[in-house]
Amino acid sequence: MQGNKTLTMIKPDAVQKGFTGKILEQITGAGFRITAMKMLHLSIPRAELFYAVHRDRPFYSELVQFMASGPIVAAILEKNNAVADFRALIGPTDPAKASSDSIRARFGSSVQNNAIHGSDSDENAKMECDFFFNQLERF
Ligand code: CMP
Repeated sequence: MQGNKTLTMIKPDAVQKGFTGKILEQITGAGFRITAMKMLHLSIPRAELFYAVHRDRPFYSELVQFMASGPIVAAILEKNNAVADFRALIGPTDPAKASSDSIRARFGSSVQNNAIHGSDSDENAKMECDFFFNQLERF
């Protein structure tokens, strides 16, 4: 059975450009319910931990620096089939390859600075939700 939760981060590029409100509007307009949300600034070690799965990729160090470069907004989103539906809403990693109405096409500018994160599996969604939120922070 498909899970009903996914984890998103509005990344430092999009927060810095003032896109947070428009992105949240598109997310809720697509039928996702926000059940937890916070604005925070990841430290380098916390960003390294979040992206540990990519530690052997050539872009890892630059990605960690970017994700720790300014505040982000992290949120748990709920909807049936949340992981797949949210990845469809945000579009592929490269904003240039995303359909024009997707979040990454509208608000991202490069493969790295792609405005938003979405979990890629139910298993990772659970780990990523637990990374940012304890039970008292979920509604
Ligand atoms: P996301 O899919 O949210 O999580 C992994 C991130 O790594 C991805 O978004 C991009 O921000 C970044 N990323 C993926 N591939 C590359 C790449 N080839 N060059 C730079 N950054 C990348």
